[in-house]
Amino acid sequence: LLRRSNAASTSPCFLRRAFSSEAAPERKVAILGAAGGIGQPLSLLMKLNPLVSRLALYDIAGTPGVAADVSHINTRSEVKGYAAEEQLGEALEGSDVVIIPAGVPRKPGMTRDDLFKINAGIVKSLCEAIAKYCPNALVNMISNPVNSTVPIAAEVFKSKGVYDERKLFGVTTLDVVRAKTFYAGKAKVNVADVNVPVIGGHAGITILPLFSQATPKANLSDEDIKALTKRTQDGGTEVVEAKAGKGSATLSMAYAGAVFADACLKGLNGAPDVVECSFVQSTVTELPFFASKVRLGKNGLEEVLGLGSLSDNEKQGLEALKPELKSSIEKGVAFVRSS
Ligand code: NAD
Ligand code: LMR
Repeated sequence: LLRRSNAASTSPCFLRRAFSSEAAPERKVAILGAAGGIGQPLSLLMKLNPLVSRLALYDIAGTPGVAADVSHINTRSEVKGYAAEEQLGEALEGSDVVIIPAGVPRKPGMTRDDLFKINAGIVKSLCEAIAKYCPNALVNMISNPVNSTVPIAAEVFKSKGVYDERKLFGVTTLDVVRAKTFYAGKAKVNVADVNVPVIGGHAGITILPLFSQATPKANLSDEDIKALTKRTQDGGTEVVEAKAGKGSATLSMAYAGAVFADACLKGLNGAPDVVECSFVQSTVTELPFFASKVRLGKNGLEEVLGLGSLSDNEKQGLEALKPELKSSIEKGVAFVRSS
């Protein structure tokens, strides 16, 4: 095992403000795929989070360097690296939150569903280990295709008798991050004040930003809203094409993953009114999983919030996304049931 300890928290004050907490309880976070494009900056951001007391970094390649590097940062958490499958159990044991960015990313011309072949198996085996070693942990699923990997995780947990729908989250925060950024730019408002719910799933047209509910309000034309919606839906592809074969979003995703994990930790610690969008088991539509605003609390998912009122275009978008989302969910379920 790669063991690294560190000093007491001396995080810069801007970080303490960003993730503020006093007398935070002990919390262990495990990152599976910690040495990857997302995993590395996400490990850094979780090391900066004072709500974390233990940080377990697991990957099948490159863990020692990342763990040694991150462990030198003088913040609260103790960092340990786990570099091989036989160390996965120890990495997971005692975890409160497990973040999964393990798996292959897209190259130009690929859809997220093209990643299913490789990532479905990776996610399935990691979830089998979670079921065994930390069945009560909150799972933050980043690996694509999220519309299928979340149902895969649910099926694995069901097959092991440990499924709790309050503990499983598809991370769609990057869609919200993008929607906020693009809206602020067009509406010429302070991005820090912006809120935009994003519902549905995490691929193409299944990503449905609700700009009609965006705040602060702005008088944007239908054309503007259409363009913002398309840019949010294609945000991942914009980055994949810009990286030209060198992967997909990693830095913005690490930021988004850190925001969502921080919200999970705040909820576990009893902070009130922690609301984020996430792809979860849901009854807000006829689909068994759906992304919408959710309230996070001491048990994980406390409440799936309703969709609120939608514009006519958003209502059409909602109906249009259902067939694709339904088939991606069914594909994930079938993968586990048939294996
Ligand atoms: P990457 O290839 O840079 O890193 C993936 C890491 O996973 C590698 O370090 C690899 O060694 C590791 N890995 C592979 N199999 C593993 C296993 N069985 N156990 C542990 N680790 C394993 O890829 P990336 O850019 O970090 O992207 C990772 C995933 O995140 C991709 O599937 C990508 O599509 C997805 N992603 C999701 C979102 C989102 O919004 N949810 C955003 C961006 C990327
Ligand atoms: C994203 O939205 O950036 C991720 O899902 C990665 C991708 O393949 O687009």
